[in-house]
Amino acid sequence: MAHRLANKIAIITGGARGIGAKSAELFAAEGAAVAVWDMNVARGEETTQLINAQGGTAVFCACDVTDASQIVAATQRVSSELGSPNVLFNNAGIAVVGELEEITEAEWDRQYAVNVKSIYLVSRAIIPLMRAAGGGSIINMASESAFVGFPMHPAYTSSKAAVVHLSRSMAVRYAEDNIRVNSLCPGTINTELYQEFLSQQDDPDAVNSEIVDLHPLGIGEPVDIAWAAVYLASDESRYMTGAPMLVEGGILSL
Ligand SMILES: NC(=O)c1ccc[n+]([C@@H]2O[C@H](COP(=O)([O-])OP(=O)(O)OC[C@H]3O[C@@H](n4cnc5c(N)ncnc54)[C@H](O)[C@@H]3O)[C@@H](O)[C@H]2O)c1
Repeated sequence: MAHRLANKIAIITGGARGIGAKSAELFAAEGAAVAVWDMNVARGEETTQLINAQGGTAVFCACDVTDASQIVAATQRVSSELGSPNVLFNNAGIAVVGELEEITEAEWDRQYAVNVKSIYLVSRAIIPLMRAAGGGSIINMASESAFVGFPMHPAYTSSKAAVVHLSRSMAVRYAEDNIRVNSLCPGTINTELYQEFLSQQDDPDAVNSEIVDLHPLGIGEPVDIAWAAVYLASDESRYMTGAPMLVEGGILSL
């Protein structure tokens, strides 16, 4: 069977671990050359070394996606080592947990810098290359939280709602350049981010059971989201743009 991402050159931000790392692995297995951008150098190198050892093509770029100059440097590296990117998965994200009256202004700003502003900064660097290469697919990581008013993390939920709408705006603007832009909205996925969230709770087991029960299919695994990202990156989704793609174990059907 032909590889679904043959001839794709993909950038995955936050690809050192979790959903991003699993996506990097599947993208490469489907024939894409992959650039992993992340601040976590040790895990990023581990991820790309694993892909290369499995016969794929991957490079790691140390990059804080809230820093415009680091983005420029990483973009130049991808261009010179892999070529013009035609897939961009803006996956990097953090979760600030805490009610509105509890979190600090600095936490609020960091939440928006990583989850929203980074998409603006990275996309403005990559779109000119994608346009020149004839088009591509941008996948922006949102969340079920974009549609549910979880009271414990208003900064996070609102940042993900912003990602959904930013993606729609980008989709309409860049359709003429043959660049599709969709948002991906996972349910709760069992990653280190989720485990770190649980560890901050007074009773992690009780909170975990509550979250599992909220999802008709329970919580998901990184691979469940990575396959959705493969679809959005591939030409199989060529008529899809501006869409929030829900892969959320049914929580929004309750
Ligand atoms: N795990 C979930 O339940 C879940 C649900 C819905 C959406 N998401 C979203 O999926 C994405 C990935 O989540 P995950 O669970 O795999 O998290 P994770 O913490 O395991 O991985 C996130 C990666 O992003 C990197 N990162 C963070 N800030 C960065 C920055 N400024 N520059 C570069 N890299 C940075 C981290 O180093 C890490 O490698 C996030 O955007 C998250 O909000 C996760």
